[in-house]
Amino acid sequence: MVTNDVSSGTAFAELRRTIANLERDIANGPIVPVVTPEEIRRHLTSRYDFSKPMVLDDAVADTEQMLRTWQVQITHPRYFGLFNPSVTLASVIADTLVAMYNPQLAAWRTSPAANEIERHTLGWLAAKFGLPANTLASFTSGGAEANLSAVIAALTRAFPDCAEGGLRQLAASPAVYLTKEAHHSFEKIAHMTGLGGGALRKVGIGRDLKMDLGDLAKRIAEDRRNGFAPFMVIATAGTTGAGVIDPLPEMARFCRSENLWLHVDAAWGGAAIISPRLGVHLAGISDADSITCDAHKWFSVPMGAGMFFCRHPDAVRAAFRAETSYMPDKMDGSIMDGPTLDPYTTSVQWSRRFIGLKLFLSLAQHGESGYIEMIEHQARMGDVLRESLKRTGWHIVNSTPLPLVCFTREGLDTAQFLAALYERQIAWMSEVRLGGGAPVLRACVTSFRTSERDVEGVVREMSTLV
Ligand SMILES: Cc1ncc(COP(=O)(O)O)c(C=O)c1O
Repeated sequence: MVTNDVSSGTAFAELRRTIANLERDIANGPIVPVVTPEEIRRHLTSRYDFSKPMVLDDAVADTEQMLRTWQVQITHPRYFGLFNPSVTLASVIADTLVAMYNPQLAAWRTSPAANEIERHTLGWLAAKFGLPANTLASFTSGGAEANLSAVIAALTRAFPDCAEGGLRQLAASPAVYLTKEAHHSFEKIAHMTGLGGGALRKVGIGRDLKMDLGDLAKRIAEDRRNGFAPFMVIATAGTTGAGVIDPLPEMARFCRSENLWLHVDAAWGGAAIISPRLGVHLAGISDADSITCDAHKWFSVPMGAGMFFCRHPDAVRAAFRAETSYMPDKMDGSIMDGPTLDPYTTSVQWSRRFIGLKLFLSLAQHGESGYIEMIEHQARMGDVLRESLKRTGWHIVNSTPLPLVCFTREGLDTAQFLAALYERQIAWMSEVRLGGGAPVLRACVTSFRTSERDVEGVVREMSTLV
């Protein structure tokens, strides 16, 4: 198993020791906090009125204590929750470096090293996805911003005039196709872009929770007949609820034949592309027009680190064009052997944090092989969890190669069960309604530190609660 090895190297030695101690303490401590808002507010009010300076060490120690006691410990090996990962040591050091140098990545000229490091890292992953060399990519605050970028780029390509005239001048109302298992960020995006929630067409799903392609074709034909303008289809590669991967090759073929933009939201599942065992399940992603993949999910770096990839650089440039007199002039190209770009002209953000360093440094330390090991280890732990649950009388209700298990048993009251699980600090997991059905339990392996012993122990203790 990949661990945050602190024995080698002297850089940030103290920080490395602190992190190692913290990891150990978190793993040995509680997972679920017991606290009320009043308790925290009383503490804050009594100590932090900011009327006079405090000794920094005291404030840091107190803040750390608050974090230690008053949060769900998502880096705990028995946290089986939403896709919040344990983090690599390299990525924590990277975030510290970023805070210290505080580079501003909006313009290439201001931060050449940081911009090129991001470009290099994104280029590596774009190639893994099988995207063309001219793919335009950027780091984002997260998957929601990456999904937003996709919808804006797709809209701009399909309706070039909307950049100036807005959606209201379009002759036909644009429509986007996705399933109800897709991420809820698209609801907000529909609102933010002015498409409106009504533009989101919820395509049917099969019993396997994957998009029903027959229904997709039917809905699009119907909409065209009724004067709407279908322009985009959203596939999810690893749904939030059940880890399901939509049929990417068939969707890619369909979208190409219908001249529709295919966006693949692979916020969590995208990292699987580097794994020989799991990457096959993402076949077809290379034909996507755009892809969302979060480094702060399965690449195990701290939040917020999303990524947006698009094979249509012109659409991205048109979508995010910006000209101002107060930004530095463009490079004249004389000292470089290739074109550069200013990220503020190709993405949503203006001031930009150096998001990509944590993925870059972490990849540098662990290498592709280390990452494959991390990802495949977690997939194996998912299998162990599945098998162990089956053996002890639970019914598995989802099917995915990813380490996300949804399960239930006869007569289970999920809310009551979870309350008992939390109270006894056995693990953190959650409930979900798949396809609108009854609530079931949802456990996702998100930590590269989760061991077989952790999984077996949790399942054993769960048996005592039913
Ligand atoms: C499939 C999917 N897409 C998008 C997102 C949103 O990502 P973020 O939380 O990084 O904005 C998530 C978050 O869990 C997700 O599961």
